[in-house]
Amino acid sequence: MQIISAPQNFNEEELYVDLQPIFGHSLYLKCEGFNFAGSIKLKAAAEMVAAAEREGVLHRGSVLIESSSGNLGVALSMIAASKGYGFLCVTDSRCNLSTRRLMEALGGRVHIITEPDANGDFLGARIDYVRALCASDDRYVWPNQYTNPYNWKAHYRTTAPAIAHQFPRLGVLFAGVGTTGTLMGCARYFAEWHRPVRIVAIDSVGSVAFGGTPGRRMLPGLGTSVRPPLLDESFVDDVVRVEEADAIRACHRMARHGFLFGGSTGTVVSGASAWLRQHDVPGDLDAVTIAPDLGERYLDTLYQTNWLHDLYGEHVLSDEVVAAGSRRS
Ligand SMILES: Cc1ncc(COP(=O)(O)O)c(C=O)c1O
Repeated sequence: MQIISAPQNFNEEELYVDLQPIFGHSLYLKCEGFNFAGSIKLKAAAEMVAAAEREGVLHRGSVLIESSSGNLGVALSMIAASKGYGFLCVTDSRCNLSTRRLMEALGGRVHIITEPDANGDFLGARIDYVRALCASDDRYVWPNQYTNPYNWKAHYRTTAPAIAHQFPRLGVLFAGVGTTGTLMGCARYFAEWHRPVRIVAIDSVGSVAFGGTPGRRMLPGLGTSVRPPLLDESFVDDVVRVEEADAIRACHRMARHGFLFGGSTGTVVSGASAWLRQHDVPGDLDAVTIAPDLGERYLDTLYQTNWLHDLYGEHVLSDEVVAAGSRRS
């Protein structure tokens, strides 16, 4: 039995899904959605808040403020409620309605940016808004997940050692790219480990994390429109870029087996499968990837037929249906 008095004190750290029966590769998926914030962002939020408290910048009367596509906002709303701080999430029109409602239910306020900045960039516009508010009122405390080292340190301290403990023969780790907190925390940990681990970053097509031209991205969480300040490419061995339609197909394939995950999980799983099709992992080594959240927050988007057809065309799932049909026959 585990008894807690603060929601951030619970996190399921030991759950993996074996994806072999679904994708045909030996690949283990670490599930990070089983906590009261419903995502891996609980770890970054808790670590950044604890650091701000230690450093004396966060105290009674403070209002946390953060730019988030949703999951970090939910985690910060929860921690702020638990500790008695205010919270304001600055997001944009791509934030799911259910995620916004969750933040509000937890007592957070949500400000939605509807116009991109002069470069057509929503993230830039969100950050400009946060900066302006912080300059106007010193009650605001901005953890700034994009530059805060405690974002990656959370994963260096928890996620990576948990994987190392369960998979002492880890050969390759696939991590999605948002702020790169998860990727960098794990990559830095395994760079110091007793044996080499191949670190593969999974990014979305249309993201500029590793260069390239920006493009439309509708799945929140993964990909970025500016180069992530936390990213140090020298820790990354390979990069795979995934089309959103492929990420969606991976999500629906898992759903057909009863596993409902979010869009960034579809992205990492699709990217990991593509990489595993082209590379041999020695049979005695394990391949692991990370599911940042679960699927319920995406019922109105990636699990909704009209949304899918409007954005990705009517045939976005047809290959997947064929694949699922042939698998069952
Ligand atoms: C659903 C989801 N997946 C992936 C990520 C990316 O994680 P990171 O910011 O650690 O790169 C996030 C971050 O917000 C997320 O919310």
